[in-house]
Amino acid sequence: VPGPACYFDHADLESLSPRMARLVQRRRNALGAAYRLFYSDPLEFVAGRGTRLVDAEGNEYLDAYNNVPAAGHSHPRVVRAICEQANTLNTHTRYIQEPLIDYSEQLLALFPASLDNILYTCTGSEANDLALRIAKQVTGGTGVLVTTEAYHGITTETAAISPSLGGPDSIAPWVRMVPAPDVYRPTGDFVKGVRAALDSLAASGVKPAAFIFDSIFASDGILTPEPRLFAEACDLVRAAGGLVIADEVQAGFGRLGATMWGFDSLGVEPDLVSLGKPMGSGQPIAAVVANHQLIDRFGSRVRYFSTFAANGVSIAAAQATLDVIRDEDLAGQAETTGSYLMERLRELQSRHSSIGDVRGRGLFIGIDLVSDPDTRTPAGDYAFDVVNAMRRRRVLTAAVGAGRNVLKIRPPMTFDRQDADLFLEALDECLTHTPMRVDSGPKQAA
Ligand SMILES: Cc1ncc(COP(=O)(O)O)c(C=O)c1O
Repeated sequence: VPGPACYFDHADLESLSPRMARLVQRRRNALGAAYRLFYSDPLEFVAGRGTRLVDAEGNEYLDAYNNVPAAGHSHPRVVRAICEQANTLNTHTRYIQEPLIDYSEQLLALFPASLDNILYTCTGSEANDLALRIAKQVTGGTGVLVTTEAYHGITTETAAISPSLGGPDSIAPWVRMVPAPDVYRPTGDFVKGVRAALDSLAASGVKPAAFIFDSIFASDGILTPEPRLFAEACDLVRAAGGLVIADEVQAGFGRLGATMWGFDSLGVEPDLVSLGKPMGSGQPIAAVVANHQLIDRFGSRVRYFSTFAANGVSIAAAQATLDVIRDEDLAGQAETTGSYLMERLRELQSRHSSIGDVRGRGLFIGIDLVSDPDTRTPAGDYAFDVVNAMRRRRVLTAAVGAGRNVLKIRPPMTFDRQDADLFLEALDECLTHTPMRVDSGPKQAA
């Protein structure tokens, strides 16, 4: 399961209102068992605006969790751009369309000069899949390094490198897991871990193709490692013939505040970057960015085309999103609100021993809940209760990390100080009134 574990248990159907129980059952009948719903008491939303969502009864919720509507739910500029383009033309990338070229140039200008080509997909999974395909073709290797709780997508290839999706047994034999660089709960020397993973691949006769990492380590519990360590690890991968792929699906587009991309804060210039989620404010658009030499080598052997990727409407949404991020200085807002939130959360930490650690960058913050601050024991069951208590107070969040005990705060970037205060007030009350419980067992991917 990617990231959060605060799902509705279908066995609890009878605890729901008759209407909700009927809807949940109909959904289950039609969509089957692979889908999940958030919260013990699932939510039905009918509208969204800015940082707020509205349920079927007209109640308003504070969305502290969704990074897809980067510019806020239903931002008028994005909505207008989508509608106007849909009303004019929506076709594919096999014709010249100047808006696509304009957008590509503007986006590439936000990357280091070496990252100068872009290939479009519809989802983050496809972007990572394509990045892996390019890396494998260009290096001639097949081995891939990932972090132990990584999530990179749902295609056959990306699910095979996503231990948080199906547990460690679900990963492919050509994948090696490296414990993510966790400062609060150290898991050993990160560089040594990478070296061991490369040695293990070599011992199996597998040549490395890539090391791929989510640059905020969202599913690993939101981590902000020491840049020097990270650069050293990437040097090792490159020396062994592999490429470095930064998965910016979570961290990208200014959410981390001071930097446009997560890899900027890791001191690394990746060979390939994958983008997704916030790129089109919910319109399915994602991409791979790389140096043109890599793409030349890839393109000399295959042609690239994806029917829906970068269609006119998606590009209109992406352009409007980028315009709003720039014109409303949303990265600056992520920095300011994020710092304020972090500071106030540290005050809360001094009053609540269940807050073991507060970490993150900009508007991507992890609140590490523990049953004992001295042993730093993850309190996953407690986090589950806190997430559900927050939901009852109409504040949306979820819990991630190996122990499913890290509250993930990742709101639309328009989240402001008032939203932060509302969040803090709800969290303070929920932590005060939720009884601590020690985890019943290790947290498996559900
Ligand atoms: C880090 C990361 N990479 C890739 C993906 C996959 O993106 P998508 O759901 O658009 O396929 C996700 C989705 O949650 C993600 O968090």
